[in-house]
Amino acid sequence: MVLTISRAEHMTYAAHIVATLESVAARHGDPADAIYTELFAAHPDLESLFWLDRDDGVRRSMVQQGLECILDYVGDRLTAPQIIAAARHHHDGYGVPADRFDAFFVAMRDAFRQIMSADWTPATDRAWNQMLTEFATIR
Ligand code: HEM
Repeated sequence: MVLTISRAEHMTYAAHIVATLESVAARHGDPADAIYTELFAAHPDLESLFWLDRDDGVRRSMVQQGLECILDYVGDRLTAPQIIAAARHHHDGYGVPADRFDAFFVAMRDAFRQIMSADWTPATDRAWNQMLTEFATIR
């Protein structure tokens, strides 16, 4: 019985995240620009770290890897914990201390919330906050 309840909660949590990503793709398309607008509005000092990224290649790879981690995490969870832990560590060498690494996932959530507007429900918010809290513990 405990397992059944836990499974149902996981499905609900995952379903909200997947529904967000589907909705963002359908109504907005590529969310990269919206994500960096949120990131640099919240952390203006981080923008200068991308001065070598003249063709946006790094920025787009980050969005792609972030989305892949999220989808894996709410799905089979085969790779996301390892990728997040490794990237958190590597980013220290890029000028992003471990405790600031999560700001990118926060910017993703905030961009999606803007795009979803009134369709961003309290349950959606809880699902994203729960996942981001869990991401922050992955070291
Ligand atoms: C505030 C948070 C973050 C900042 C400021 C940041 C910044 C950067 C910078 C400056 C680089 C280029 C490093 C170099 O080549 O010298 C980079 C690379 C990269 N970052 Fe981030 N990052 C953040 C979070 C993340 C997250 C959460 C992910 C995904 C889980 C991620 C994935 C990547 C990937 C895949 C690359 C390599 C891109 C490539 O070379 O094609 N980053 N990051």
